[in-house]
Order: sequence, then C-alpha cells, then structure tokens
Amino acid sequence: MARTTLPGGTWTLGDLTVTRFGYGAMQLAGPWVMGPPADHDGALAVLREAVALGITHIDTSAAYGPYVTNRLIREALHPYPEALHVVTKVGADRDEQGGWPTARDPQSLRRQVRENLETLGVDALGLVNLRLGDATGPQPGSLAEALETLVALRQEGLIRHLGLSNVTPEQVAEAQTIAPIVCVQNRYNLAHRGDDDLIDELARQGVAYVPFFPLGGFTPLQSSALSAVAERLGATPMGVALAWLLRRSPNILLIPGTKSVAHLRENVAGAGLALSGDDLAELDRIGR
Ligand SMILES: NC(=O)c1ccc[n+]([C@@H]2O[C@H](COP(=O)([O-])OP(=O)(O)OC[C@H]3O[C@@H](n4cnc5c(N)ncnc54)[C@H](OP(=O)(O)O)[C@@H]3O)[C@@H](O)[C@H]2O)c1
Repeated sequence: MARTTLPGGTWTLGDLTVTRFGYGAMQLAGPWVMGPPADHDGALAVLREAVALGITHIDTSAAYGPYVTNRLIREALHPYPEALHVVTKVGADRDEQGGWPTARDPQSLRRQVRENLETLGVDALGLVNLRLGDATGPQPGSLAEALETLVALRQEGLIRHLGLSNVTPEQVAEAQTIAPIVCVQNRYNLAHRGDDDLIDELARQGVAYVPFFPLGGFTPLQSSALSAVAERLGATPMGVALAWLLRRSPNILLIPGTKSVAHLRENVAGAGLALSGDDLAELDRIGR
C-alpha cells in the first residue's frame, strides 16, 4: 500500500487506525443502490485506487446492492492489506422495490452480520454500525435490544468494535450505558448542520463522527457561496466541501462516494485545500 499522506491525517477507532479521508462504497452498486454497477471494472478500479492513495477506511454494508458493494470490495481488495479497515452496518434489509425495511430483531441482526462476514470474506468484522431510524432520518426510541444483540456477537468474536448510525443524541447516550461506541455515522454536510452540537460533544469524548452524504448524496451539494469559494481557490465545490468538513472538527472522518477514479483523486486533492478565515466564514453561513 502506498504511504501517501492524505489530508487530515489519521484517527483511531477503538484500536483501528484509519485515515480521516476514507471512501464510501454505497453508490458503486446500481441505480438507487440496487443491483450490479453499470461498469464493473470501473468500480474495481475506484476501490483499488482508494487503497493505492493510502485510504484505510472503506464504508459499506451487505444491504448495498444487496451484497453488491461487499462483493466488489472483496473482488478488488481481498486478501485485504493489514492497514485497511472495512466498516459495515446492519439494521435494514432491502425489498424488491429498493426500499430499506427495518430489520433490527436479534435474528435479523445475526443474519446480517453473517452476510457481511461471508460477502466480505472475513472471520470477524472490525467495526459494525447499528443503523437506526429510517429513510427520513433518526427516530426516537430505545436501541437496547438491538445493541445488546451486537454486544453478544462481539463477545462471540464476530465483531471487534461498535458504532451507531442515523441516531439521536439520546440514543447515543443510551448506547454508551450499554457498550463503548467508537463512532456515530449520521447525515451531515455544509448545508445540513443538524448535528453541530452532537459533533462537538462527541469530539469532547474522543468519539468519531462520520458524516454520510458529505457531498449531498443523491442530490450533490449546490450553493452559490460554495461555488464562489471554490472559484476563488481554483478548486472544485466538492473539494471545498470536504476541506470544510475536515476543518469543522478533528473527530470528523470522511467517507465521500464516487464511481469515478478522476473524482476520487480530485476529492483527495480538494480535501487538502487550505481555507482562510474568510472562506470558512462564508461557508459557515450556507447551512445556518
Ligand atoms: N448510514 C447510513 O444510513 C448511510 C446512508 C447513506 C450513505 N451512507 C454512506 O455514506 C457514503 C457517502 O454517501 P454517498 O456516496 O451516497 O454520497 P456523497 O458522498 O455525499 O456524494 C456522492 C455523489 O457525489 C458525486 N461526486 C463525488 N465526487 C465528485 C466530484 N469530485 N465532482 C462531482 N461529483 C462528485 C458522486 O458522483 P460520481 O460517482 O459521478 O463521482 C455521487 O453522485 C456512502 O458510500 C455510504 O457508505 C450511509
């Protein structure tokens, strides 16, 4: 693996050291995260380029495709470099319409962990996020039964570390009374700032915050202020959005998605941009 110095340096999740610049594999699957990619070899090339650039954090789930992104990761990268950590998540299945039905009963969670192990080709998962809520966002309610199932799987040696996804601050606090939580993965980006307080609290605790849809997801970020800053810096808006996230808080880990090697390289370069106080102030106003 190349020893490139990626922007942002590294962060430690439990005992797993990852680059703060990671990669999100979800959109490597077909349209709306269902079925195979249009360009199979192109998808493998993106994954291999991510590792060649020095990225050691790839985010995925057996629900993506379903099974498609995990199998692509396995085909592209197995046997995995020791430094690479493939982070997965459980808590939802897929239906034939491409929906994400909740599946958090103990039997479903055990099945999903087994599916992730099999499709990734590993004996244990380094980090599993328990995904709560639904497609509209986090929903209140106790996570105890679901998390206790994952704690049991950890005790059985199938999982090493636990995280949460799509959760409220109250659910994070409840989880922390049950087991150590090494990261929270919620929706957050320049234009969607609902978790500002949670990010600061997790930073105080030394817990990672992993924004999903860092570039806006299925509707990539568009903002005249973002474009203006990017133009001033001779950079792309996506690069500036990633640089802003790295500056926002030291506990933020990036998992931007792309199907394109060129965009991946562009995003790495962009995340390393130096933003001035004026740039930051202008960008800060977008989501407020
Ligand atoms: N926990 C959860 O519930 C949850 C939910 C959603 C996502 N996630 C995770 O978050 C990761 C990131 O989310 P995401 O991939 O959906 O959204 P994203 O990273 O916010 O944005 C990806 C989109 O941005 C475009 N893009 C990327 N770089 C670009 C560039 N330089 N120029 C122009 N367009 C660019 C991509 O198109 P191209 O392919 O053309 O580059 C793609 O359409 C996922 O991979 C997944 O692992 C988790």
